[in-house]
Formats: sequence, C-alpha cells, structure tokens
Amino acid sequence: MAEERKTDKNREIDIKTGAKEERNCPSFGTVQDYCAVLKNSMTAERWLHSLGVAETAKKMAEFWGADPEKAWLAGIFHDYARELPYRQLMEIAQENGLDILDEERDNPVVLHAPVGAFLVKKDFSITDGEILSAISKHTVGGECLTLLDKIIFLADMVEPSRNWPGVDKLRAKVYQDLDQTMAEAIEGTIEYLQEKGCKVHPVTLKAWHQIKERETNRE
Ligand SMILES: [Fe+2]
Ligand SMILES: [Fe+2]
Repeated sequence: MAEERKTDKNREIDIKTGAKEERNCPSFGTVQDYCAVLKNSMTAERWLHSLGVAETAKKMAEFWGADPEKAWLAGIFHDYARELPYRQLMEIAQENGLDILDEERDNPVVLHAPVGAFLVKKDFSITDGEILSAISKHTVGGECLTLLDKIIFLADMVEPSRNWPGVDKLRAKVYQDLDQTMAEAIEGTIEYLQEKGCKVHPVTLKAWHQIKERETNRE
C-alpha cells in the first residue's frame, strides 16, 4: 500500500508496523526488533506519535547537523514510559534513585521522561548518553540543552499528528532558528500551564530564565 509507506533515500518505513529495512542498532538487535517491542508497549495513537517524532527529529538532525540515526532512535523511544500508571512511575523512580521533586510528586506524568530513559537503557541496552539525555529532558527541558535535546523537545511538539493551536507556526520555525523556537515553545508551555492554574516545573522555569539571560546578553 504505497500511501502507507514513507520513503527516503536510505530506507523505508511502514507507517502501520514501523517495520524498516534491516540495519543494526548501536547496542543489540535491529530497529525492527525494537519497533516490535515498542509498538506492543503503547496504544496505536502513541505509536503513530512516536514514529512522527522519530521522522521529524531525523529531518531536523539532518538540517541542523546532529546525528540523524541518534535523533531517530531518541524519537522512537522518547515516550516508552508514557503509558505507565503514575504509581509505577513513582515506584521505578524511587527504587532506582532517580530524583523526584515536589512538583513531580504533584504531577507524576512528567516522570515518564527520566523513567523512560532509565527503562530504555535497562530494557534495550541503549547506553548512548546523547540519546538518553534527549529522552530524559523531553518533557520539562533543562539548562544547557544539547542540540539533540532541543531537537527531540521540539519534534515532540510539532510532529505531523500534533494538532494544537499554534502548532503550524512553531512547525515552520524549527527550520529557521532553533534557540528562538525553543524560547517560544517554553514560553508557550509556561503560559498554557499558568492559564490552567498548574504549577510550572522548576527546570522549565530555569530553562526560560537561562534563555532570557542569553537574549539580554546578546542585546
Ligand atoms: Fe512524552
Ligand atoms: Fe511524546
């Protein structure tokens, strides 16, 4: 079914199954092996989202000079822990010495990022620090983000199945000015949370202050 397959010059993805031509992953197994496990661990909707993030991240990496393979892997794995019950996210974080802030106790869903990175390392033997960092920081951001961290953070917000007000504007900007787009994405997130009366994660606030400081120093 031609319309269900996306092709680029190196490989093909079946959008329904995630099946890709055979190639080896950094640690073990093939992308096909990983995709089969991942697909079974999440809803069809989230799987489509994960494929969207992977493909968007790969294109952004090619554009901005990051490693496209790492970007694709970080994208496909980024929500591995997203569908775990909150109680389980808390337990995994506690049992494995991951920091849990008060804001995360109040809103455990954000833990799916660091817990996801932990589980991707444990379950798939992926040890690449850049991939794990990008997975770990994709919800709340962080200070001193790497190029890959920024790519995954933004790809998560703008991948093709995302449909929130303002997404088209941000989608166009990710190929114009990555730092400026990060600033706008973080600002938008803060405004959205404040409008809903939710607490803003302190790491997101720190990232925002850091961006503002840089802007002031540039002026
Ligand atoms: Fe996520
Ligand atoms: Fe996501």
